[in-house]
Amino acid sequence: MSKLHQHHVVIVGGTSGIGLATAVLARDAGATVWAVGRSAERVAAAAAANPGIQFETLDTHDRAGLTALFSKIGTIDHVVAAATGANRTMAPFLDQTQEQFREAFDKFWGYCNVIRESAPFLATDASITLVSGSPARKCNPGMSSISCVGSAVEALTRALAVEMAPTRINVVAPGLISTGMFDRLGDQRDSALAQMTQNLPINRPGQPEEVASAILLTLTNGYMTGSTLDVDGGTLLP
Ligand SMILES: NC(=O)c1ccc[n+]([C@@H]2O[C@H](COP(=O)([O-])OP(=O)(O)OC[C@H]3O[C@@H](n4cnc5c(N)ncnc54)[C@H](OP(=O)(O)O)[C@@H]3O)[C@@H](O)[C@H]2O)c1
Repeated sequence: MSKLHQHHVVIVGGTSGIGLATAVLARDAGATVWAVGRSAERVAAAAAANPGIQFETLDTHDRAGLTALFSKIGTIDHVVAAATGANRTMAPFLDQTQEQFREAFDKFWGYCNVIRESAPFLATDASITLVSGSPARKCNPGMSSISCVGSAVEALTRALAVEMAPTRINVVAPGLISTGMFDRLGDQRDSALAQMTQNLPINRPGQPEEVASAILLTLTNGYMTGSTLDVDGGTLLP
């Protein structure tokens, strides 16, 4: 029987991309899964396409809403924070206002809310998995804000893995993954993603399911904590 059988799993940022793929894998492994996102339309579409997962409309910045959801669930075995959660300005640092730079950290503050509000409801052997991104440790020009946010997420993981033990806290760092994040590119989407990944050792964009399977490992491996798991086609290699 799967290690997730009848476990309560909450995925924040679970209506699209990496979070939704994780929700599907966890459901298929026998977990009871709650998946949340901001947009009611996305929630409705994800619910229609994915029976057996409980979808809710919720923002990571709504602390009262998070508490209401977690207390409704009762005991939580695993929390995954995969929400993008912020307006990011991709521009040289000196061309950004301080406000634009600060906005990118809304992802980080959202993750902090998820950890704080879920903590009272965690099972004794619970896990929390955060999602950072390869720019945390390999940053191209124009990516300083997302690099700093990713680094903060990874540093928080290591700090809390010690402080909140025996709760296990890990972070998964995706490279370029083909998700709804790139829908804004319209018709250029596939060619742009192919071009951005053509020089990687694995020369294609990643798929959300490939990141989701790494997230599931952090949920089910009881000896992993404080770890950063890279799923990036070799992005970090020289
Ligand atoms: N795709 C990549 O190439 C890549 C690379 C590196 C890191 N990442 C990271 O991987 C994580 C998942 O990204 P993805 O590519 O799967 O993106 P995605 O397909 O756009 O999915 C993002 C999910 O987060 C939800 N969300 C966003 N802001 C939220 C908020 N404030 N509160 C609650 N839910 C929120 C979205 O729903 P709503 O929009 O309806 O709220 C959606 O369910 C993010 O942390 C992202 O930074 C992605």
